[in-house]
Amino acid sequence: MQQIAKPRGQFISFEGGEGGGKTTQIKLLAEKLTALGIDVVQTREPGGSEAAEQLRKLLLTGDVAAWSPISEALLFAAGRADHLDKLILPKLAQGTWVLCDRFLDSTRAYQGVAGNVPQELITVIEKYVVAQNLPNRTYILDLDPEIGLGRANARMAEIKASQAHMAEDRFENMQMQFHLDLRQCYLDIAANEPARCSLINAEQSVAEIHADIWADAQQLLNQLAEKA
Ligand code: TMP
Repeated sequence: MQQIAKPRGQFISFEGGEGGGKTTQIKLLAEKLTALGIDVVQTREPGGSEAAEQLRKLLLTGDVAAWSPISEALLFAAGRADHLDKLILPKLAQGTWVLCDRFLDSTRAYQGVAGNVPQELITVIEKYVVAQNLPNRTYILDLDPEIGLGRANARMAEIKASQAHMAEDRFENMQMQFHLDLRQCYLDIAANEPARCSLINAEQSVAEIHADIWADAQQLLNQLAEKA
């Protein structure tokens, strides 16, 4: 019997500053999609493939000044290229939806705007590493950095109490102005790319944030059903 090829999966990224609850929201959306019979994989950046997870350790533990912003941009890009090759693109081709905790907008915001890496370099990296493989949808979880850092610090205190050397807190230790610049960059990305990006108020409860994301995801599902 002839097999009917499954349509390509959808690539969805979750973005925003610290403490917006991306991980929880990815899990909730994955549960909803799975209940509809959709294959889903949850992944993250930096990381997501074996080599990129090694880079994650180098990038996120230790001194804030361990890497210059340009070195960081290149290391995040190296991890992203491997993650795309080994996990994201093969899964999308199989018809699996990929839910990714951070992707290229994090480099734009953290290294580009907050770290002052020249825009030309960020653009060239995107052109060669990401090329046409932009997410179909990006949820930007927006909240006041004071609130986000408070949440992230509470979580970090728990991790440090159990495994101090593993704490991934380099960026959370940066000055408040860094976090304000990050937020502005994400707001600009959402305004400039409304077809891809949906800005979500992450100061709401977990259930309210999820309801906003699910309402948008249902629109995406309806659009796909109309095209099929
Ligand atoms: P998180 O997964 O807990 O948000 O931690 C990842 C950290 O890595 C976060 O502080 C943002 C940072 N990051 C960058 O600076 N650039 C990037 O391209 C990515 C993917 C993450």
